[in-house]
Formats: sequence, structure tokens, C-alpha cells
Amino acid sequence: PAPGWAVAADVVVVGSGVAGLTAALRCEAAGLTTVVVTKARLDDGSTRWAQGGIAAALGEGDTPEQHLDDTLVAGAGLCDEEAVRTLVTEGPDAVRRLIATGAHFDETTGGGLALAREGGHHRRRIAHAGGDATGAEISRALVEAVRARGLRTVENALVLDLLTDDEGRTAGVTLHVMGEGQHDGVGAVHAPAVVLATGGMGQVFSATTNPSVSTGDGVALALRAGAEVSDLEFVQFHPTVLFLGPDAEGQQPLVSEAVRGEGAHLVDADGVRFMLGQHELAELAPRDIVAKAITRRMQEQGAEHMYLDARHFGADMWEHRFPTILAACRAHGIDPVTEPVPVAPAAHYASGGVRTDAHGRTTVPGLYACGEVACTGVHGANRLASNSLLEGLVYAERIAADIAAGHTAGTLHARVPAPLPRPASPAHPLLPPEARLTIQRIMTEGAGVLRSAGSLTRAAERLDALHAEAREALHENGKTSEPGVDTWEATNLLCVARVLVAAAVRREETRGCHWREDHADRDDTSWRRHVVVRLNPDRS
Ligand code: SIN
Repeated sequence: PAPGWAVAADVVVVGSGVAGLTAALRCEAAGLTTVVVTKARLDDGSTRWAQGGIAAALGEGDTPEQHLDDTLVAGAGLCDEEAVRTLVTEGPDAVRRLIATGAHFDETTGGGLALAREGGHHRRRIAHAGGDATGAEISRALVEAVRARGLRTVENALVLDLLTDDEGRTAGVTLHVMGEGQHDGVGAVHAPAVVLATGGMGQVFSATTNPSVSTGDGVALALRAGAEVSDLEFVQFHPTVLFLGPDAEGQQPLVSEAVRGEGAHLVDADGVRFMLGQHELAELAPRDIVAKAITRRMQEQGAEHMYLDARHFGADMWEHRFPTILAACRAHGIDPVTEPVPVAPAAHYASGGVRTDAHGRTTVPGLYACGEVACTGVHGANRLASNSLLEGLVYAERIAADIAAGHTAGTLHARVPAPLPRPASPAHPLLPPEARLTIQRIMTEGAGVLRSAGSLTRAAERLDALHAEAREALHENGKTSEPGVDTWEATNLLCVARVLVAAAVRREETRGCHWREDHADRDDTSWRRHVVVRLNPDRS
């Protein structure tokens, strides 16, 4: 598209994972003109990397009530129980509709769904595909459905900011489009309903299971638009990520919880199974408990990682049940069939995000959010394994229903996007691309698995200094550099990192995946509440 291009629709969905494509398909089925914009290709993003699967009470003897109980326990007192009830009761049918859309899940020899167990689940309730390639199959099925339905899609388009009308209602989004062989340009989709489904922000840390596109763009956009954001301090660190050395940066290979679900053991540097006696579920305790136990044991032993031992699975089981993980390990010179796999925690999932109600509405009229970018209240202080794909499905469907029910053929607001979108304002100056690495290191050192007032305050000061430098450069030059995707991404990372750290400073307790060394206990008297942030758009 040429610079300055613009299109109009009833709905623009930003993001193309399970949440975005489900919302788009349901909106289109409801007769709404729908455009999907996505930063890279349609199948890029976190969904494709999901291994373990999608949790729902689909097995014999299982009930939504039991799924609810496990979710509430993992969420450590901060789940919104009604939001969870919606998730677990609507979940099974949402999975059936996903199957009807074309996703193929693994089956038992009797033809039923093969269900696995993961951390925090008292039952086998995780549907999976291709052994450990569930997200790839879901993504394939949804992308095919979107193409078959002829939905309009714009790939290689990074969302910048929300457009609003004079009453503060949503009127669309501005985009930075990377033209192929053409000049990059700023464009816009004008629409009275915007669905943010931009995924997570794992790239705010050095080592993460998230792909490089997970830079918190949706949360940053929402913050700049004045929407409320909640629970950002609850960053989930996945306990078992393949350890590739202390300086490994960027996306790291995940070793699914499902491997522990099938009986793999966590052992320390001396070969001792250290989860026994720590929790009734041992290696299958909720994820925060396992991540903390690993980190603690690493500290005690001065070790850089622990081990996941599943040699007893044998070659056949590894090859059939976990082909993706087996291939990733072997690509890095480790053979799980004959040796224990070195693992350590890495950033995995943002339990918080843009605050929504039960219909996915944010606090800005017309702006919706679903999937990892959203905070619907289902995850509380720590997401239960494999609830995220389910949340994406269920809440995307609710959003489509809400837009369809409330949609009136309103006037579309033909506004020309500003030549310099808002990130280049004094409140949000553009950062140079190399700031990304600096932000990741600051966050890893100060706001990782283990936090304290000291570490967080230092992180906040260093992030503020980066912001001040960028602001100074903006003041001197009018703009920092030619805006490109990497400058917007660095700008977004800084925006979400600062809010995340501020929330983590405020929460003076240890709860779920927020672990404060200086406040070691959970404090239900003062802290059974949420840290909700709303930025004044004109202030830094
Ligand atoms: C995993 O397969 O361990 C990841 C599942 C999840 O994050 O929900």
C-alpha cells in the first residue's frame, strides 16, 4: 500500500493468533465487514508456538466446576470468579466449534479426544494436536478458514495508535505498513470497533518463549489511548525452557508441561528429585511454584539450570508424543532419549493486560481486547497451564457477539492519520532500535523471577533514564530517527516495561508469579486487589 492509504470496515481486528482470527471469523459470520491487520505473516505470533494444548472439561468424569477450582487455585486469590466460570462453561463448546472450523486434535484409539495433564490440573483435560504442536495446528486451521472465507487481511502492518472521534469513541487504528519493494508507509483502518488481539510482551525480557513479535504493542497502544491496564506485574515464567547458556537472548525453545504431565522428573545438579515433598502435585504443581522451586534450587547449588529427566519415556514415546521438543533439543545437541535436558525458567506469559469486562470491552468505548493482550480476570496472579488458548477462543467469540449485537451502521470517521503518530510525542518519544536489548537486560536483572524493592527501583531508574534520553533527542532533533518497526517496538517495550515495573514496586507481597524477596508472604489483608493503571495521554 502507498503511504497514507486508508480503508474502512465495521471491525478491525489487530493480531492473527487464536483470539484475533476467531474474533474475525465470528464477526464476518455475523455479517460485519472485517479487516485483520497483523505485524508479520498471518501465522506468526505466539499461538503457533503453543505446545501443550488447550484445556477444557471434555473428558469423562471431568466438569467445568473442577476446571474452575484448579484455575482459581493457580490464580492465587486474584481471579475474577465469574470470568473463570464463563471460561470453563463456554470452553468445551468453543473447542468443539474450533474442531468444526477444521482443527484436528489427537485422538485415542477409541476415537475420543486424547487428553493430557499439565501443572495445576487435577485431571487430564488438555486437548493436543500433532503430539506437541497444538498451536501450529490451530493456527493452520484458522488461517485456512480466514483465507477460505475471503476476509481482508493486511500483513506486515504494525499497529501504532488508536483513532478516536470527538467524543472519545474508537474510530480505527493507524498502522506502519512495511511495503514489499515499496516505501514503508503510515496507513489507517477506519472502523467503529477495534479488537486488540496483539498477544503478549515476553520480549521485554532477555530470555523468553515468545517470538520476536511479542513486544507489547497492544498494551502500549491501549495505554497511550487512555485505557485501563491491570495486573502487569504478574509475568509468568515457564519453569522448563531449554537452557542454552547464561547469555542466551530472544526466543528460547519451550519444553512443555505436558512432558512432566507424562511423568518426567525435575532433578537438581546432584540428580535429586527436588519437587517431591514441596507440593502434593510434585512436578505438576502450578507453574509459579515449580518456577520458584527451580530458581531457589539453582541459587542453593550455584547452578545455572536444573534438569528434566525423561529418559524413561524411551525413543518411541519421544518421537510420537513430543516430536517438536525432541527436534528442538537435538538441534541444540541434547538427546532427551539418552540424557536429562537442561532447563531453566524464562518469561512466558503476561497474566495481566488491557482490562476488559465479560464481553471483552475495554474502558475506551469501541475498543475490545482478547487473548494475551487482555486482562479478562481469568488468570489472576498466575495463569493455569493451557488456559490461554481457551481464553482466546471464548472471549473472542463473546466480543464478536457483542459487536454484532450492538452494531449500528454508524458513520465512519474519515480522518487522515497524523504524519507523525503519537509515539513521537514528548510523552512517548521514539527510541532507537538498540534500546530493545538494553530494556531486556534491565528487566531481566531487576524484574525477573525474583524481585525486591531494590532491584525494581534500580530498574525503574534505568528505564526512566532511557526515556529521558529519548525525550532529549526528540527535543533536539524533532524526531529521533526515521521511524521504522524496530523503533516503534522499542518504544512500546519501554512503555510497557515502565508500567510493569511500577506495578511490581507497588505490590508489596509475594503472590502467584510475582515474587518479592523483601515481602516473602502473601498479604490477603492489603493486597487482595488489582494494580490498575491508566496513563494521562499527555504526561510521561
Ligand atoms: C506448555 O506446553 O507447557 C505451555 C502451556 C501453556 O503455557 O499454557
